[in-house]
Amino acid sequence: MHDDIQSILIPAEQIQAAVARLGADITRDYAGVDLHLLGVLRGAAPFVCDLMRAIALPVTVDFIGVTSYGPNVRGVVRITKDLDESITNRHVLVLEGIVDTGLTLSYILRSLATRGPASLKVCTLLNKPARRIIDVPLAYVGFEIPDEFVVGYGLDWRQKYRNLPYIATLKPEVLMG
Ligand code: IMP
Ligand code: MG
Repeated sequence: MHDDIQSILIPAEQIQAAVARLGADITRDYAGVDLHLLGVLRGAAPFVCDLMRAIALPVTVDFIGVTSYGPNVRGVVRITKDLDESITNRHVLVLEGIVDTGLTLSYILRSLATRGPASLKVCTLLNKPARRIIDVPLAYVGFEIPDEFVVGYGLDWRQKYRNLPYIATLKPEVLMG
């Protein structure tokens, strides 16, 4: 698995430092509020698990599952697993692994907004602003990254590499293979 890596963009220690910083910011901003975390499956799973433990507030957690139709089909998003709990009148913070064109998150936010949350904000570990098509408000960002395809810490290439502890690029022959 590690043989397929071209270069490590964000080492594990830097990810954990960003998680600690985001957790402290969220703890400060949501003090006194019943915060409901909403993880986007599958890419945000490790981020949710680490970040929830860096937030020193009595949070609740739920997940929404989405999939886009293939790597070359843009903006067509399907909900594969809906929320288990209602978000009406709750303070919702969506946790996402990466925002690229913004189409996926924009679809999720539009769907969630119709359900009447008290507030709705986004925290993403990675932001790739170069290819943004739809503007999405990002309240918390771990890292801005260049326009490169990355894997690891939840992010996949053809469902693999999600278990890498760091964020990395793949060798071109792996991406083409
Ligand atoms: P969007 O382009 O912002 O809609 O991003 C769509 C989805 O594509 C994200 O939620 C990720 O699952 C995936 N994605 C975008 N960029 C990358 C990447 O660099 N590596 C792995 N997955 C990515
Ligand atoms: Mg993917």
